[in-house]
Amino acid sequence: MAEMGTLHDAFLDELRDAYDAEKQVTKALPKMAKAATSPGLRTAFQAHLEETRGQVARLEEVFAALGEKVRGKHCDGMAGIIEEGKSAMEEDFDDSTMDAALIASAQRVEHYEMAAYGTLVAWARAMGHTEAADLLEETLDEEKATDAKLTQLAEGGINQEAADAAHPEDGDGDGDEEAPMARKTGGGGGGRGGAKDQKSAKKTAKKKSGSSGRRR
Ligand SMILES: [Fe+2]
Ligand SMILES: [Fe+2]
Repeated sequence: MAEMGTLHDAFLDELRDAYDAEKQVTKALPKMAKAATSPGLRTAFQAHLEETRGQVARLEEVFAALGEKVRGKHCDGMAGIIEEGKSAMEEDFDDSTMDAALIASAQRVEHYEMAAYGTLVAWARAMGHTEAADLLEETLDEEKATDAKLTQLAEGGINQEAADAAHPEDGDGDGDEEAPMARKTGGGGGGRGGAKDQKSAKKTAKKKSGSSGRRR
């Protein structure tokens, strides 16, 4: 009779899953950074891309600490989340709505990672793999910090700006960029008129050229 798998086997399986998931994220983040209009959001995506590359390397350290070969196993969960994010990026949203949608996608990624690393840390600790647990916990903390940063960006202006665009009658009308008077959240979203105008113009041009040959 075949031997039954143990928690250690399940742990290795989850590690391989996480390794593949992080690699998928390193491919998705540059596209998300490119699609972002808010400079703060773009910077956050770029910073997390660097961090994610470090997480891939850190997982390699975890494999080494366990005396295992580095191996990935296709992570269907992350693939699905990234696929959904891609669909959102293909929508013709206005700039701030696109930023809000990018944050929504990115937070799904972070929460998925938080769940995965939370489990990995707990299992590693339970089995006495202290070095692996410490390394995995560093990544868990980075994912949590990224999630918090995204919340801060969303609630610090991006959501409200998107909401004002959705319901202009409640706010300052048709967007005279020089007089953003009726903002409901304090401080968020100010001082980015120039960059936004440029990006809007670029997007409008892109939309026009692409309108006859849309893929969907
Ligand atoms: Fe990650
Ligand atoms: Fe992450």
